[in-house]
Amino acid sequence: MSFSFNHSSSVFITCPFKTSTLCAAEVEKLGYKVDQIKDNAITIQATLKDCIKLNMNLRTASKVLWLLFEGKASNAEELYRLVQTYDWELLMTVDGYFSIQSFTQNSTINNTLFTNLKVKDAIADFFIKKYNKRPDSGPENRGLQLYIYWIADQVRIYIDTSGDTLARHGYRKIPLKAPLQENLAAAIILATNWDLKSPFINPMCGSGTLAIEAAMMMTNRVPGLIKKDYAFQRLKGYSDEWYRDEQIACRMAVSHDVLSPVIASDLSADAIRSAKINASLAGLDTKIKFQQCPFEETMIPEEKGIIIINPPYGERIGEEQDLKLLYKKIGDFFKTRCKGYKGYVFTGNPELAKYIGLKPSKKIPFFNAKIECRLLAFDIYEGSKKQFT
Ligand SMILES: C[S@@+](CC[C@H](N)C(=O)[O-])C[C@H]1O[C@@H](n2cnc3c(N)ncnc32)[C@H](O)[C@@H]1O
Repeated sequence: MSFSFNHSSSVFITCPFKTSTLCAAEVEKLGYKVDQIKDNAITIQATLKDCIKLNMNLRTASKVLWLLFEGKASNAEELYRLVQTYDWELLMTVDGYFSIQSFTQNSTINNTLFTNLKVKDAIADFFIKKYNKRPDSGPENRGLQLYIYWIADQVRIYIDTSGDTLARHGYRKIPLKAPLQENLAAAIILATNWDLKSPFINPMCGSGTLAIEAAMMMTNRVPGLIKKDYAFQRLKGYSDEWYRDEQIACRMAVSHDVLSPVIASDLSADAIRSAKINASLAGLDTKIKFQQCPFEETMIPEEKGIIIINPPYGERIGEEQDLKLLYKKIGDFFKTRCKGYKGYVFTGNPELAKYIGLKPSKKIPFFNAKIECRLLAFDIYEGSKKQFT
């Protein structure tokens, strides 16, 4: 067993459920070969040094996990013994700090916290045997962060190189109600195959996530230019120079030209205010045109592009009737004001979606946390082609 930033191992990159093909495309664009695609993760072969690049560049990822070692364990005792076989001094000192997260599907374990506890005990006892004292441990994002993936008797011990989730791109300080997670918003935009140079219109923008992600893509800004704290920075053997080099490469790749307008509107003054603050934290306040208005009054440039709307889905009783009308108005808005555009509605409520009154050309499945959602695509023809349901 060896540990070095130049040693290649299996890397497990997690992402929101159903977005792994989009994440795989991003990873391939960075020059890596994807070995396996699951529903919420992909696997590649890479070094810890590569993980710096992956963490900073990927828009759809949640975690980048580097495989430290793997083995077999049928129960908690065997897990304890397996973890003790590793020389933990390669990774931390007795005065260090470590934290553990896990995913467990083993018939002898009914609480994943028990997995964390067993691994923590095994590492602590490794040091106690040698020094009669142990590194501190707990839930904080500091020191060595490990991720245990235990299915049946197969155990994989990963170094979590991300720490705080990559789902947050670091610009959203004011989330408002029902915001999209940033990596999900990026995945939604990538699923539209937007060409990055035609107008991007986002009515009902809320805290601005979709518009900010679109402006980031258009100007080739990656999340690593905003987010500054990663678990790889705290690993033994890490050199800040590698991170600085990647930061410079990311900065050099930024394009300052906005090729087409990115427009974000919302009825709520609070939403527009917070979207503007979030955009300025992303360095993009001058690249997005904000408008406080009912969605039907959003400015629509002559040049054709895409329109994405993430309307409320309605969680409270009594909202249903108002929302039916809102969804119907979205259909009317597409038909009357957005001819020649490609329209998209992201919703977790298929019943309400029917009120749009247009036939989607595609229904792309997503999950927003536990809610099953669809990105509905509408071709809004300029001519008379039949499109109404
Ligand atoms: C689900 S939230 C959008 C969340 C957003 N995607 C984000 O990431 O923050 C729906 C938004 O629609 C806005 N909204 C609801 N009815 C509207 C209307 N008739 N015109 C314009 N905006 C409206 C609300 O103010 C709210 O900000």
